[in-house]
Amino acid sequence: MTKLKWGMIGGGEGSQIGPAHRLGSGLDGLFEFTAGALDHRPEEGREYGQRLGLAADRSYGDWREMLAGEKAREDRVDLVTVATPNSTHFEITKAFLEAGFNVLCEKPMTMTVEEGEEIVKICQSTGALCAVNYGYSGYSLVRHMKAMVARGDLGAIRLVKAEFAHGHHADAADADNPRVRWRYDPAQAGVSAQFADCGIHAMHLASFVVGQEVQNLSADTVSCISSRVLEDDAMVNFRMDGGAVGRLWTSSVAIGRQHGLTIQVFGENGGLRWSQEQPNQLYYMPLNGRLQTIERGEGNLSPEADRTTRVAIGHAEGMPLAFANIYTDLAEAIRARKEGRPMDAAADLYPRAEDGLRSMAAVFAVAESGKEDGKWVDARPPMFR
Ligand code: NAI
Repeated sequence: MTKLKWGMIGGGEGSQIGPAHRLGSGLDGLFEFTAGALDHRPEEGREYGQRLGLAADRSYGDWREMLAGEKAREDRVDLVTVATPNSTHFEITKAFLEAGFNVLCEKPMTMTVEEGEEIVKICQSTGALCAVNYGYSGYSLVRHMKAMVARGDLGAIRLVKAEFAHGHHADAADADNPRVRWRYDPAQAGVSAQFADCGIHAMHLASFVVGQEVQNLSADTVSCISSRVLEDDAMVNFRMDGGAVGRLWTSSVAIGRQHGLTIQVFGENGGLRWSQEQPNQLYYMPLNGRLQTIERGEGNLSPEADRTTRVAIGHAEGMPLAFANIYTDLAEAIRARKEGRPMDAAADLYPRAEDGLRSMAAVFAVAESGKEDGKWVDARPPMFR
């Protein structure tokens, strides 16, 4: 089987998320790293790309050069990952989709709801595939949670509780550090800081696992460090279209918490709990039963979990392997299209442009509700109302 060709924009030397994408895309031998525009500094980007093994003529100085170069080739890349800073995602993703490339965009997909709707419409009209990197949905046991909910193990879902609360911006003395300050500045971050950065991961996970979409929400947002214009903590209550009630806490001032992403689901017949920092265990309590530990790698959990686990039970799998699962989904989606066949249903779980759009609508809803003392507001994008 020939490998699919993969390209990357952003993710240059020293970037936070670039290495996880390179590991994830390369892990299963499905993609070959073929092209890139890796850095906002053209020469550094070209040089680093070549050091990572790109051919000189496909290690580009900027994304426009890459778009022109790849468009002109017969053997153009099959998938482009956009891992640049947030405000550039829309422009780059739109340009590549319009040229017919498939895109995996980092979150947030756009900075406004209108831009999100535009991306969804471009996908609808061109048929190009656009995924958004809600990478935590790639964890094997997250997929198993989703499968358990879908097959009715918990009965009707009553509650979902999601948290993404860390403590890395809790130091008031560090609040003016330029690497931190921009995140709370509306001119650079948009209408929301902590919810837009981390809360959307938790909300996406809640929807993903429960299989329901957020309809309306009420938010209490606060800047615990008073010099911040945007929120560093938010508590969001929401209602989902299948009747589940949602609770979400996100924070950047929760000292002592490291990553802090946790999800719990409570149905009429049982409950589940999973944390990103212990991703190889899922806790399941059947009604009137005993607490059980489900281990990643146990045989025959569900097709969704079984296909996304690689190392034997008892050996830890972590975040780059979750990203790898998004890439294996995308490889299957791209191959199925090329071969004119339906894709494996257990792989059809990658987060879509529609999810990126829903997140953006939730971001604006949280900002609006937070300003109005928690007023309940519609959290759906206009095109889905
Ligand atoms: P970073 O600041 O560490 O790295 C950004 C990289 O993009 C740098 O190498 C920079 O030179 C390059 N770059 C900037 N503008 C560019 C342009 N116009 N063309 C080409 N390259 C350009 O940023 P980080 O933390 O890696 O975040 C990147 C994106 O990934 C953000 O949107 C962030 O929200 C997202 N992210 C997602 C995570 C997830 O779990 N899905 C986790 C962390 C970040």
